[in-house]
Amino acid sequence: MKVLTITDIRKLVQAMGLEVFLKHVVNGLETDFGRWNEYTLSPRHRTLYPHGVIELMPCSDQQFYAFKYVNGHPGNPLNGKLNVVALGLLSDVTSGYPLILTEMTLLTAFRTAATGVLAAKYLARPDAGTLAIIGTGAQAEFQVMAFAGYFKLDTVRYFDTDPGAMRKFSRNLSDQMFRLLPCQSAIEAVYHADLVVTATAAKKRQALFEFEDIVDGAFIHAMGGDCPGKTELSIHFLNQVKLVVEYLPQTLAEGEVQQCEADRVYAELWELVCKIKPGRQNNQEITLFDSVGFALEDYSILRTVYELAKGYNLGTELPLIPELKDPKNLFGLLAS
Ligand SMILES: NC(=O)c1ccc[n+]([C@@H]2O[C@H](COP(=O)([O-])OP(=O)(O)OC[C@H]3O[C@@H](n4cnc5c(N)ncnc54)[C@H](O)[C@@H]3O)[C@@H](O)[C@H]2O)c1
Repeated sequence: MKVLTITDIRKLVQAMGLEVFLKHVVNGLETDFGRWNEYTLSPRHRTLYPHGVIELMPCSDQQFYAFKYVNGHPGNPLNGKLNVVALGLLSDVTSGYPLILTEMTLLTAFRTAATGVLAAKYLARPDAGTLAIIGTGAQAEFQVMAFAGYFKLDTVRYFDTDPGAMRKFSRNLSDQMFRLLPCQSAIEAVYHADLVVTATAAKKRQALFEFEDIVDGAFIHAMGGDCPGKTELSIHFLNQVKLVVEYLPQTLAEGEVQQCEADRVYAELWELVCKIKPGRQNNQEITLFDSVGFALEDYSILRTVYELAKGYNLGTELPLIPELKDPKNLFGLLAS
């Protein structure tokens, strides 16, 4: 079985170039969301703790079975640890044998950003030029770079309650073509923004900005609120925008829409991809993708990276699965 480390993922992204890699991931997601009826889907298995959440996220079709282990611990950065870390596994359904075990902390950041872009492709104005991001922690640059690969961004407005996170964000993106504009508040950041990403981590109900603070035609990628009791926008806000989710049974428990009735949700993302429902219908409407992270996205990036790792000859074969001449002689392994 092949193991892909953080170094392997870095090598892959460097070999392909960040923009090309992200496009590959977006295209993979579009293909995979377009095959919605081919999967065995389920909400994730979630274990809640006072300080965070630990989750298992499975998804499979007739070829691959995938799952991810992931946490969310908003207090971790105060102790020098990441809020979100993850590991993923892809296996062959014919034999049940695992094919790759991979780091998924980076891959989660990539697939979350790429899923936001996929939603934006259907829900944002194609001429969007200003992006605002609230929360400039671990996920932030991935979000911005993915959107910059699809939209012609001229300005990125940003705000975080932690000035250190804002400095880190501006350092990491200082060589990009767009203008970086630090803001004093979330409300200042979203001023006249066509694309808004909310990526804060706080285990509480927040209202980062209100409906009156954003412009007509804006698209919001609400990705920070992703478990019960953890939201970023008010019910007043949600009641006035077109809401799209990944998988309703999961998002109703975990997303911004945990505050709403199910009938407030316009569509699941796959319905836009499969052209069952139209996405944006005019230049004025305000659209919101309520992203909580769905197992199909992990399946998709695992499948994509599995193929790419073969092509780029990356990863290390490790003896984690027994290889036996006589498959009944497992005990014989102890003697050799
Ligand atoms: N939807 C998904 O698929 C998905 C995937 C990954 C992470 N997430 C979620 O996204 C959020 C961000 O993840 P991360 O890894 O970047 O976390 P992080 O802890 O690295 O960064 C979060 C940032 O938000 C800032 N913040 C908190 N409250 C704020 C506020 N009111 N206004 C402005 N800034 C504020 C913090 O200072 C911090 O810098 C988390 O809640 C995480 O659970 C969702």
